[in-house]
Amino acid sequence: MTTPLLSLRAISKVYGVGEAEVHALRAIDLDVAEGEFVALMGPSGSGKSTCLNILGCLDVATSGEYRFRGQAVSGLDRDQRALLRRHYLGFVFQGFNLLARTSALENVELPLVYLGVGRRERRRRSLAALAAVGLEGRERHTPSQLSGGQQQRVAIARALVTEPSLILADEPTGNVDSARAHEIMGVLAGLNRDRGITIVMVTHEPDMAAYAHRVVRFLDGRIAADERQVPWRPEDHLDDGADDHAAHGAVVAAGVGGAVAATPEVAP
Ligand SMILES: Nc1ncnc2c1ncn2[C@@H]1O[C@H](COP(=O)(O)OP(=O)(O)OP(=O)(O)O)[C@@H](O)[C@H]1O
Ligand SMILES: [Mg+2]
Repeated sequence: MTTPLLSLRAISKVYGVGEAEVHALRAIDLDVAEGEFVALMGPSGSGKSTCLNILGCLDVATSGEYRFRGQAVSGLDRDQRALLRRHYLGFVFQGFNLLARTSALENVELPLVYLGVGRRERRRRSLAALAAVGLEGRERHTPSQLSGGQQQRVAIARALVTEPSLILADEPTGNVDSARAHEIMGVLAGLNRDRGITIVMVTHEPDMAAYAHRVVRFLDGRIAADERQVPWRPEDHLDDGADDHAAHGAVVAAGVGGAVAATPEVAP
């Protein structure tokens, strides 16, 4: 078997001490292969965000082993984990986490600043990333001049501009209406399918989990179910999903870093 992109073995997370102890994760095992699109579901407090934060090197497990492409992450120090985050990971959160009073373009450029990418190249890649999420013409707008769905697409552009191996998303559609939510899912599904970016996404909504190839259900800090499924493809349902298809087409056409050919898909 090829090495999984992500591998968790007996990962536990305990918050607090003594009386206040919370067992957020109880010895979970989870492998995610390169190119998968996995939805994490489960009740509030079941450990989904804790798991995502550990995968994203934003938090460390209390015990157990985490390997990223076969490399033990558990042994890395803070700086090494930051490097892993910058180079290989992209994050999308429910609250967008965009800088206010800063243009969409500058928000998207920020991770490239941290990577030391030069000004011209930063601009070129950020414009391509914004185009990839269907935001041409909105580059100079600040977050307050954009809708919730558009803000979330800026956040996705920021996550993908570094060409990460993995995008981690925690309730990426939590703050937008249903039509915008499907638009955002269309963008994420397109990135997974057309660029092979692995996606692990927490969601409470079955409609959003339907885009994934696999659903992992958490219950009380444990994995209660792990099932593969045929993902929902908006282009198979063009009548009721025209917007999704438009967003997806934009992903295929734009191509960050010139890596993707400009061949917009034609619906069957
Ligand atoms: N920093 C923290 N300190 C103490 N307890 C925490 C902390 N973060 C999370 N917890 C606890 O760990 C458990 C799991 O939390 P987690 O955020 O992973 O749940 P979740 O599945 O993401 O829930 P939700 O769907 O509400 O976002 C909860 O009982 C929570 O209260
Ligand atoms: Mg959560």
